[in-house]
Amino acid sequence: MCGIIGYVGPRPSQDILISGLARLEYRGYDSAGIAVIDGEGSLGTRKRAGKLQVLRDDLAAHPLADGTTGIGHTRWATHGGPTDANAHPHLADDDKLAVIHNGIIENFADLKAELVDAGHTFRSETDTEVAAALLGREYAASGDLVEAFRATVSRLEGAFTLLALHRDQPGLVVGARRNSPLVIGLGDGENFLGSDVAAFVEHTRHALAIGQDEIVAITPDEVTVTDFSGDAVDVEPFEVVWDAAAADKGGWSSFMAKEVSEEPEAVANTIRGRVHDGIVEIPELDGLDELFTDIDRIIVIACGTAAYAGMVGKYALEQWARVPVDVELAHEFRYRDPVIGARTLVVSISQSGETMDTLMAVKFAREAGAKTLSICNTQGATIPRESDAIVYTHAGPEVAVASTKAFVAQITALYLLALHVGRVRGALDAETIAAQVAQLEAVPEKIARVLATEQEHIEQFAHWMADTRSVIFLGRHVGYPIALEGALKLKEISYIHAEGFAAGELKHGPIALIEPGQPVFVMVPSPSSSPLLHAKVVSNIQEIRARGARIIAVAEEGDAAVLPFADEVLRIPLAEPLFEPLLAVVPLHIFAMGLATAKGLDVDQPRNLAKSVTVE
Ligand code: F6R
Repeated sequence: MCGIIGYVGPRPSQDILISGLARLEYRGYDSAGIAVIDGEGSLGTRKRAGKLQVLRDDLAAHPLADGTTGIGHTRWATHGGPTDANAHPHLADDDKLAVIHNGIIENFADLKAELVDAGHTFRSETDTEVAAALLGREYAASGDLVEAFRATVSRLEGAFTLLALHRDQPGLVVGARRNSPLVIGLGDGENFLGSDVAAFVEHTRHALAIGQDEIVAITPDEVTVTDFSGDAVDVEPFEVVWDAAAADKGGWSSFMAKEVSEEPEAVANTIRGRVHDGIVEIPELDGLDELFTDIDRIIVIACGTAAYAGMVGKYALEQWARVPVDVELAHEFRYRDPVIGARTLVVSISQSGETMDTLMAVKFAREAGAKTLSICNTQGATIPRESDAIVYTHAGPEVAVASTKAFVAQITALYLLALHVGRVRGALDAETIAAQVAQLEAVPEKIARVLATEQEHIEQFAHWMADTRSVIFLGRHVGYPIALEGALKLKEISYIHAEGFAAGELKHGPIALIEPGQPVFVMVPSPSSSPLLHAKVVSNIQEIRARGARIIAVAEEGDAAVLPFADEVLRIPLAEPLFEPLLAVVPLHIFAMGLATAKGLDVDQPRNLAKSVTVE
């Protein structure tokens, strides 16, 4: 939450900051602002409530003097509403110092009281302005921005990435991080800081990952990283594999539309390089067999859509690797007293790799002695750096707030992991692995078929349903988490009340919701490969249809048994049960997007949300 960029170099910085913010806007879009030290050595700032476009229009109408040192921020509001005054940057030291922030400073109220007692006046309701005031006071005392940072961060509790520049120090941007993301982009005679690599990927692919509790100072020619005590630290270089075009909308109407269209390649790219002669070999896991052999339990932790991917993965891990698996919401996991230890493997799943709830759960698991493995889509992110092992998903940058292609990539990575663990633990023979791999490798082409044959139909259908006020999603077995995902996506981007249920659970209460005309999406298992489940789900359909429900069946091509009971059928290609989720979710993603579009909503930036949830 909140996107941050800093730049020092020879070029005018405003365009660099604004285009970086455009790539970071998915992190928050309540307000945006920049601060620039101009050629005269003056500090200029501009900040506006609303999306980045409001700031852009303001700058076009009333240009701000440009300069080669600047910082920029796009906000997801926490302390104080989305107003101009609460937008970042915040100023201090007689308006000579500008600060931007991502995170939450938990002790801000005490610090603010202390500063107010000392005569400081505040212009916003934010916790950030408190940090700015402290930093200003420290800078006024020492005249050294890095030292001032060091003194300031020692007073702060909570999670933060802070960037600052001072009018008297052109060519210098200083940043600090604790439990909140920050990466460095290395240019030629210029350097960048960003919440993630999207901030600077159009300028450089050379990056450095900064650890927790570290301070970085960038000038055009130098990058210095120290810990909060002032000792030099090693930083880890990496090459960004995404290219700038991958994070552009191209000709698509929305990032979400583009990303749904990329679901086939998200699966294919996640498999690529990890299958050799029908055997899954994940290079990142070489030499780490003991992570899988010396355990008697796996706990998957994640939030939202990533947690639903984890629920799907549980079926594969248990079936193929024969290890008991629990799936838990990360924010619930660490606030009870879970029984974990050295024989527990905690697998975290996170597209962004920055979700604070998941990060804190991973740290908690490590401290409790568990082994940790992260499934993540973002290089240089914090969660993989805090884990014993990483399996990257290769979905490419996901910009739309609602996760789509990352979801199918996460399931794919979990399936590869399950086959890998099954082999390492001796639970699977080569023939079984090869058969499952062949199924998995066929998925991209099958998703492409759903997109090619069903997209138009589903969009039209979604258009008809634009006035719907409530939708129910039902599934059994692996179809259950897909029902949850379908409901989440619809709530999230179309603001329609939606609920997902295990189909068998309906008669234990929720069936009371069914009244004539109630739309119910049902994930229908394959009649050929899961005849028993298929029959049960068809019975569930009959129960609700008898009460007037309008049935939208997501069913396998050729399944004629559902036809008499369904008002609408969305077809998916034939697949073994474990591979159905990767296909059945596609119509649901298209439907949510189609309905939100029909309602005239912004599918990429739904209200109240941000993509990377870096607060608890
Ligand atoms: C829903 C969605 C969220 C995320 C969740 C976890 O469409 O995108 O539910 O899945 O916030 O985010 P990551 O995967 O970045 O940890």
